[in-house]
Amino acid sequence: MYKIISSLWIYLFMLLIFLSSGIHVGAYLAVNWGRMSTQKFVPSMVVDLLLQNRISGLRIFQPSFNVLDALADTNIGVIITIQARFLQAMKEKKQLDDFIYDRVKQYIDKGVKFRYLYVGNEPFLKSLYKRDRFNNIVHFLNMTRDSLDGFNLRDLKVTTPHFTDVLIKVNKPSEGDFREDIKDEMIEFLDYINKTGGPFVINVFPIYTIYRYGFDADFAFFDNKSKFKIIDGNNTYNNVFTFIYDTLVCALTKVGYGDMEIIIGQIGWPTDGYIGANVENAERFYRGLLKYIARKEGTPLRPNRDISMYLQSLTDENKNELEYGPYQRHWGIYKLDGQPKYKIDFTMQDRDIKPSVAKGIVLLPSRWCVFDGKTDHNETLVLQDYGYACYTSDCSSLGAGATCDRLSFTQKVSYAYNIRYQTANQNIHKCELIGAEISTINPSTPECEFIIEILTAEVVDGGSLINKRY
Ligand SMILES: *[C@@H]1O[C@H](CO)[C@@H](O)[C@H](O)[C@H]1NC(C)=O
Ligand SMILES: *[C@@H]1O[C@H](CO)[C@@H](O)[C@H](O)[C@H]1NC(C)=O
Ligand SMILES: *[C@@H]1O[C@H](CO)[C@@H](O)[C@H](O)[C@H]1NC(C)=O
Ligand SMILES: *[C@@H]1O[C@H](CO)[C@@H](O)[C@H](O)[C@H]1NC(C)=O
Ligand SMILES: *[C@@H]1O[C@H](CO)[C@@H](O)[C@H](O)[C@H]1NC(C)=O
Repeated sequence: MYKIISSLWIYLFMLLIFLSSGIHVGAYLAVNWGRMSTQKFVPSMVVDLLLQNRISGLRIFQPSFNVLDALADTNIGVIITIQARFLQAMKEKKQLDDFIYDRVKQYIDKGVKFRYLYVGNEPFLKSLYKRDRFNNIVHFLNMTRDSLDGFNLRDLKVTTPHFTDVLIKVNKPSEGDFREDIKDEMIEFLDYINKTGGPFVINVFPIYTIYRYGFDADFAFFDNKSKFKIIDGNNTYNNVFTFIYDTLVCALTKVGYGDMEIIIGQIGWPTDGYIGANVENAERFYRGLLKYIARKEGTPLRPNRDISMYLQSLTDENKNELEYGPYQRHWGIYKLDGQPKYKIDFTMQDRDIKPSVAKGIVLLPSRWCVFDGKTDHNETLVLQDYGYACYTSDCSSLGAGATCDRLSFTQKVSYAYNIRYQTANQNIHKCELIGAEISTINPSTPECEFIIEILTAEVVDGGSLINKRY
């Protein structure tokens, strides 16, 4: 009996240690949920999905109240972002304090577990750095830190995610370094997050890196099928991920922060909008990635490590920006109708299963807006309406190499007409285009889906503090 009791005490003691170390125990698998889409999953539905699939973390871009409400008392580790535009437009520190109170402090009291607070997003992004730059990142990190400390939230760390383009293009990881034009600011940033205990967050998009480097496509995957390898001294790289990761480790080492914790803020594979962006490759990518994480093998420069990752992404975003190409709208593991697109075992046991379906989604009626294909229409006007329909919706599936690229001209016009009509929740007036008619016959082909929009899933509060993205 004594023995049982003492082992019970040991157990409780261990549990206490486990709990008191909070949620920063080992590595974890989490997902990003961007909501730049015409219709969005209801937050409680997303929480159910995460719990059913045993996904322990979520990064949201808009710190919307309704999303935070749904996350209370769930034990899901949450990352929210304070938008750069809000910070830049801020007139007085009180606005930031109010933000921290309303969207962080209050929710901690309601049982939301925050993992990190992101201050801005990819401030050194090459395409933005010159024209729309977020200056003074450390200043804003420090203000946020100060505000958190003011509410006694010292354990909640601040950081900012970066894209891989903060690194120079190299032939092998040992050449890794930060871009010259941002180096000073990067060092200042590193110094600050090192002092305050935040991780370095890097967003890795293998499909982008393959293209940028002209690598063999197989090198993006983790299944050793690539004939192409990178040899660097005694180290061999079999895939893009370990190559990038160690390039970053070398860059950090060169500026004196070789031990800094690294978290993968976004990683995934899109299913449309680009060559190689398809369901088969996404399944293959995640299968290899999840097995790789489960093996805890780390990388040649940081062997035998857990690496925490935020998969990109929970759902498609048909209003996402297209800076890197149409595939940006097709990161979803789930389609907007709540169906998983492919097999993925979030528990990392490599089971051959599809994740659970998002429950409670209702589709609009089976109606499509299509082009009648008659040849007596004024072709100039048809082209005009085709362009207009795309411009006012999302034709990223019609691009070169995308799933609907091989449709006939008539079908492509139908596709555009339909997506405009669906995006507007089947508003009949949005189908008033040259040669357009409503049809109850599904015009989808085996490759190309003509979607039906879902019923408005939530009353969208915009989420954004300033009316811009996320
Ligand atoms: C951060 O803010 C504090 C005052 O709250 C100031 O003393 C400190 O110098 C600042 N640090 C940086 C790196 O800006
Ligand atoms: C980073 O932080 C640790 C402890 O927090 C400190 O020992 C180390 O010197 C710091 N590194 C640099 C390069 O400042
Ligand atoms: C890939 O090949 C390397 C070297 O041949 C080996 O060490 C590694 O375990 C292999 N990985 C997988 C996932 O098979
Ligand atoms: C490669 O490994 C050999 C044998 O372990 C060692 O002597 C050598 O220093 C290593 N080279 C590098 C560049 O690390
Ligand atoms: C087609 O429409 C355009 C633009 O309205 C017009 O300029 C053109 O004359 C029309 N073509 C025919 C054959 O009617």
